[in-house]
Amino acid sequence: MAWKVVIPQDITDIGKDYLRERGYEITVGSGSLDLEVLKREVADADGLLVRTAPYPAEVIAAAPRVKVISRHGVGVNNIDLAYCREHGIVVTFAPEANAGSVAEHTVGMMVAAAHNFARFDRGVREGEWEFRNQYKGRDLDGKTLGLIGVGRIGQKVAHIAAAFGMKVIGFDAFVPEDRFPAGIGFRPSADAVFAEADFISLHVPATPETANLVCQRTIGLMKSDAIIINCARGGVVNEDDLAEALKSGRIFGAALDVLEDEPPRPDHPLFSLPNVLLTPHSAALTAEAMDRMGLHAAMGIHSVLSGEKPKWPVKL
Ligand SMILES: NC(=O)c1ccc[n+]([C@@H]2O[C@H](COP(=O)([O-])OP(=O)(O)OC[C@H]3O[C@@H](n4cnc5c(N)ncnc54)[C@H](O)[C@@H]3O)[C@@H](O)[C@H]2O)c1
Repeated sequence: MAWKVVIPQDITDIGKDYLRERGYEITVGSGSLDLEVLKREVADADGLLVRTAPYPAEVIAAAPRVKVISRHGVGVNNIDLAYCREHGIVVTFAPEANAGSVAEHTVGMMVAAAHNFARFDRGVREGEWEFRNQYKGRDLDGKTLGLIGVGRIGQKVAHIAAAFGMKVIGFDAFVPEDRFPAGIGFRPSADAVFAEADFISLHVPATPETANLVCQRTIGLMKSDAIIINCARGGVVNEDDLAEALKSGRIFGAALDVLEDEPPRPDHPLFSLPNVLLTPHSAALTAEAMDRMGLHAAMGIHSVLSGEKPKWPVKL
């Protein structure tokens, strides 16, 4: 009997073709984020290929035969990893599939926030023109970019930023000075980065330590024309504190690809502010990255179910 792979939120063909060619039976789910729906959809799975839906213990327990959960992407905070460890379920992910795409999106957001793209686009459509003289943009050239997290994405952002003439500094809780990537100036704390940088870009996972890293206290350390970019995870920024800072003009602007609750509620405090740019957790959703994420996640499932060592295991 063929192994069954359930894909609750659909992926592009390349990953599904990879599995079908190797004899797997594939079921694509409805895309629902509802736990009861997910529990029904995963019931038969030997392998689960997951995207952004939540996989708490109760959903994984509803798939009693599951041996591998493979994440289409990088962040694994939507999967109960402790449950997987206790039940011998292997978790794999796709860390090499989207770092370049997220880095491009991050730098795109830096440029867009600094040059008022969102505000100007909305205004021009509403008949404004002379407001171009009212809202001065900011150059990236000659400015300091501060990175929190200098892993795969942070390093790629640093590389692109250097081409804009930016000086790049960073802090990483697990990368000491003697192992700091070339081209990024080591700083010993996040606070030091917040105080010195003109642009602050977050590239850390969602953990108890990174929750609310950007909050009223740390915004208080920043320059008055600082721009914050978050293409990492929503909870890293305290959104109420950020909204307050943007409203009062305490900082210049912000650009966020991720929010604490996704999708956000329609009356979210950031929505009414002109100096914030928002994208719908789409940094990694280029056509190329979608294909790579699907393929790499499928490769993870196949490795585990065929008894090989996966190339990209998540440490449990
Ligand atoms: N917007 C998107 O669509 C999207 C796509 C991919 C990844 N991401 C997010 O981007 C994050 C970074 O991805 P990556 O591929 O660069 O991961 P990575 O693991 O290569 O790098 C993360 C870095 O953060 C550091 N870090 C961990 N905890 C820290 C802390 N408390 N303080 C400072 N540094 C800390 C780690 O040491 C590591 O160097 C991911 O965790 C994910 O949440 C978002």
